[in-house]
Amino acid sequence: MTNARKSKNIVLVGMMGCGKTTVSNALARLCPEFSLLETDELIENSEGMTINEIFAQKGEAYFRSIENKIIREALSEHGRIISPGGGVFLNDENKQLLNEKAFTVYLSASSETLYNRLKNDNSRPLLKTNKNLVETIKNLLEVRTPHYKKAMVEIVSDNKSAKEIAEEILKEYKNYGN
Ligand code: S3P
Repeated sequence: MTNARKSKNIVLVGMMGCGKTTVSNALARLCPEFSLLETDELIENSEGMTINEIFAQKGEAYFRSIENKIIREALSEHGRIISPGGGVFLNDENKQLLNEKAFTVYLSASSETLYNRLKNDNSRPLLKTNKNLVETIKNLLEVRTPHYKKAMVEIVSDNKSAKEIAEEILKEYKNYGN
């Protein structure tokens, strides 16, 4: 991978708390020629609001439309590691575009791992319900898993360091002829 301008983008999909941000940072350290894009961060910057504020003031549908726009923009260049929000692959158009134009990786994690990573988190609007957090995570995971499984490869993230996962991703990326 010497010419990042021509290298296929790498996209990490998976549930909130599966480690997309940490792993994409580790991946960016292994591939300094790639640039790293966090779509939630881009959305927050362009809207001048936090994700919580966008959901509360403008609603989820608005957030999803901006997310779709940001994904299209992110795919307009090569040599990128893209770390989107956990809902990105639920939209058929996003899923198709990402699988067509990028190398997609599903970072899977058990509901126990997700719970442990999310139990003290306050930044995810979809977890701010009155329902039990374990149940909320299990339900989301059940509904979303079939979508996430449409990614090109699945890498289990439980009990692995971000660096180990990043190395696995890179191996798969090369196996795919990238
Ligand atoms: C969401 C995940 C969040 C963020 C928003 C919605 C989701 O990103 O985009 O709260 O639908 O799963 P992370 O996956 O980085 O937490």
